[in-house]
Amino acid sequence: MAGGSNKNWILMVTARSPTNIAVIKYWGKRDETLILPINDSISVTLDPEHLCTTTTVAVSPKFEEDRMWLNKKEISLSGGRFQSCLREIRSRGTDFEDEEKGIFIKKEDWKKLHVHIDSFNNFPTAAGLASSAAGFACLVYSLAKLMNVKEDEGQLSAIARQGSGSACRSLYGGFVKWSMGNDANGSDSIAVQLATEAHWDELVIIIAVVSSRQKETSSTTGMRESVETSPLLHYRSKEVVPKRILQMEEAIRTRDFPSFAKLTCADSNQFHATCLDTSPPIFYMNDTSHRQVFCMEKWNRSEGTPQVAYTFDAGPNAVLIAKNRKVATQLLQRLLFYFPPSADTELDSYLIGDKSILKDAG
Ligand code: DP6
Repeated sequence: MAGGSNKNWILMVTARSPTNIAVIKYWGKRDETLILPINDSISVTLDPEHLCTTTTVAVSPKFEEDRMWLNKKEISLSGGRFQSCLREIRSRGTDFEDEEKGIFIKKEDWKKLHVHIDSFNNFPTAAGLASSAAGFACLVYSLAKLMNVKEDEGQLSAIARQGSGSACRSLYGGFVKWSMGNDANGSDSIAVQLATEAHWDELVIIIAVVSSRQKETSSTTGMRESVETSPLLHYRSKEVVPKRILQMEEAIRTRDFPSFAKLTCADSNQFHATCLDTSPPIFYMNDTSHRQVFCMEKWNRSEGTPQVAYTFDAGPNAVLIAKNRKVATQLLQRLLFYFPPSADTELDSYLIGDKSILKDAG
């Protein structure tokens, strides 16, 4: 029996997961329940100091039901995605014992014990900054540690994927590939690390928070509508992405910034083109986002070789990847000159490294 006769204990684990930004995008599912994608994708995981989720999970014989708080507000755990992650982790829990505290948990007890989950995002939730990626990666990782799960990151990534597709890529740092897989049960639809963060550490990522408002069309709904109505999406997943994945892997392996930047920008633009090709069309980028693309394209052209890559997820916020620190400084100067954070530009803030340059910072 869990904890023997002692019912006065609580076990707790805290973990932190960074968000990730796709440079070859995932858009479209072939199985909505298992979250199996229609193409492979590649991402860069951000530094854990910055855009990240911190989650504390606790278990105690005193808890009467599973409960969760996100950013201090209680949220429902009844959704299928939370339930899938909880079920999968519970079924893999192993025996745990802490003799000193008199805690003995048998692996079958994990299914009976209730958990409390407290999660906090240090960035806007559901504003197209991949909050669900960091959130579900952190949830799965912390629950796995709590329940003494012995599975490796690859297997945990297949569980995080069932919370939110992009979450499977946040189990690793550096450059990560999510293979779409072939199995109907999704066992081979997992993430693998292509290279550690140290492999290409000159890159600097700046995020222009054009709007921290919650997006109108969620990724889940948007990609469902694209799968149902966009011929371009099906062409993209079959004809374009497989080649781009190989080219991107090579660009990362050889730290070839011009190829990396061209592929990243082209893939972001094609993803947003599939959104426009969806019926009714989905607009994630806004006028400020479009002007930023124009500005970066112009700069890259004037230099003769790309200095900066841009990419936009399901929202108007620009993720800008500078070739090195020197370029990042120039980029920030340009951004502050052409897009000063103010009500007119509709720009909220810039996130770079551990600093947020906010409106009132000038
Ligand atoms: C545009 O992973 O949020 O950011 O699997 O339905 O939860 P669900 O979608 P989600 O979609 C992310 C879409 C994207 C591209 C990407 O991250 O690859």
